[in-house]
Amino acid sequence: MRTERLAARHARDVAALHGEGGFARGWEPGECAAMLADAAVVTDGVFMGSAARPAGFVMSRQAADEAEILSIVVAPAQRGHRLGASLLSAHLSRLAGHGVTQVFLEVEDGNVAAERLYRHLGFREVGRRKGYYPKSDGSRATAVAMRLDLA
Ligand SMILES: CC(C)(COP(=O)(O)OP(=O)(O)OC[C@H]1O[C@@H](n2cnc3c(N)ncnc32)[C@H](O)[C@@H]1OP(=O)(O)O)[C@@H](O)C(=O)NCCC(=O)NCCS
Repeated sequence: MRTERLAARHARDVAALHGEGGFARGWEPGECAAMLADAAVVTDGVFMGSAARPAGFVMSRQAADEAEILSIVVAPAQRGHRLGASLLSAHLSRLAGHGVTQVFLEVEDGNVAAERLYRHLGFREVGRRKGYYPKSDGSRATAVAMRLDLA
């Protein structure tokens, strides 16, 4: 298993993985290519063995010394084997190397795997937004805002 920075050539892989994340809105490959080419966006992938396609990715947007995690997804068949934890840990180290001291994210209330992953890496809840996420059944879910101090 290895982690590597992803580039625009991984746009289709990122779009496909994001589509497996269970989110209400998908990401088009063109949209992913634009984000991967954006100098303010930092994207890492986790690869199994010598595989050319990532088994997971995490993407953040950096602004000065803050970053926001935009998405993290591990392929369904690979979940529960600590790939997410390894990937996020490597990503946070990279962000720290870029001068980031605070990382923010939002996670849907009840997404137990993601919340556990974030808490494991040191994120703490800093607020809640009711009715933030539109769900496929027409209802809306609460977003839990979390923060990690890297300094
Ligand atoms: C969230 C996600 C990236 C985690 O990746 P993963 O490789 O399965 O996670 P890991 O194996 O590294 O486990 C990380 C933590 O989550 C826990 N966990 C993993 N799967 C779980 C599950 N199905 N139910 C409960 N906890 C789970 C692990 O026990 C571990 O917790 P611990 O550190 O307290 O022991 C993955 O489940 C995923 O892609 N989910 C869909 C997309 C998503 O919801 N992304 C987050 C959006 S905010």
